Amino acid sequence: LFSGRVDFLLSAPQLKFLPDPDVPEIAFCGRSNVGKSSLLNALTLRKNIARASVTPGRTQELNFFEVGEPTRFRLVDMPGYGFAKAPPKVVEKWKALVKSYLRGRQVLARTLVLVDSRHGLKDVDREMMKMLDEAAVVYRVVMTKADKVKKSELDKTVAKVAEEAKKHVAAFPEIHVTSSEKGMGIAELRAAILEDALG
Ligand code: GTP
Ligand code: MG
Repeated sequence: LFSGRVDFLLSAPQLKFLPDPDVPEIAFCGRSNVGKSSLLNALTLRKNIARASVTPGRTQELNFFEVGEPTRFRLVDMPGYGFAKAPPKVVEKWKALVKSYLRGRQVLARTLVLVDSRHGLKDVDREMMKMLDEAAVVYRVVMTKADKVKKSELDKTVAKVAEEAKKHVAAFPEIHVTSSEKGMGIAELRAAILEDALG
């Protein structure tokens, strides 16, 4: 992966604009500002192919990035959930878009649920995990911004998240711990994604 080309394919504001379902897809979901776009950039060794921003609510559409040969698949950057400052109508629209994509996409090979290492699981994360459980969409839980917390605190939070993930039928038991900033856990996650995409 990711040794070949990575190209922005398209941005889908509505389901009818999704690309043809002919390639496996890996979806990035999580709360606003958790670091979805940054993680996608780190995995693909790009500075800002997926636009990251200090302002929550940056990503408002489903953004598809195509990874080239030898393994063709797509990474899908999604709008965040739990962003209270956006107008409720806008939040509802993102939520509906994300949920219907996750529930209905035939070529969805794996979902990543990103969780901020400083905060651990919030109710919106639990809600999303429950929805994925019910839709039988198997997901990896990925801790982000691990560079922002002390090792001792990080270990505690990861243990807690792992304990909860066990109760979710569609969650992988193993938790990935990453920092897009420092590169922590990125190579391991990249390898896992490649396996997911290969099926
Ligand atoms: P939305 O598109 O708004 O939902 O946000 P997002 O989840 O895509 O987050 P984004 O990648 O835009 O990152 C949000 C902020 O967190 C940015 O200021 C990033 O620089 C910062 N950030 C992301 N990953 C890391 C990390 O691993 N470590 C540190 N220290 N900061 C990070
Ligand atoms: Mg984003």
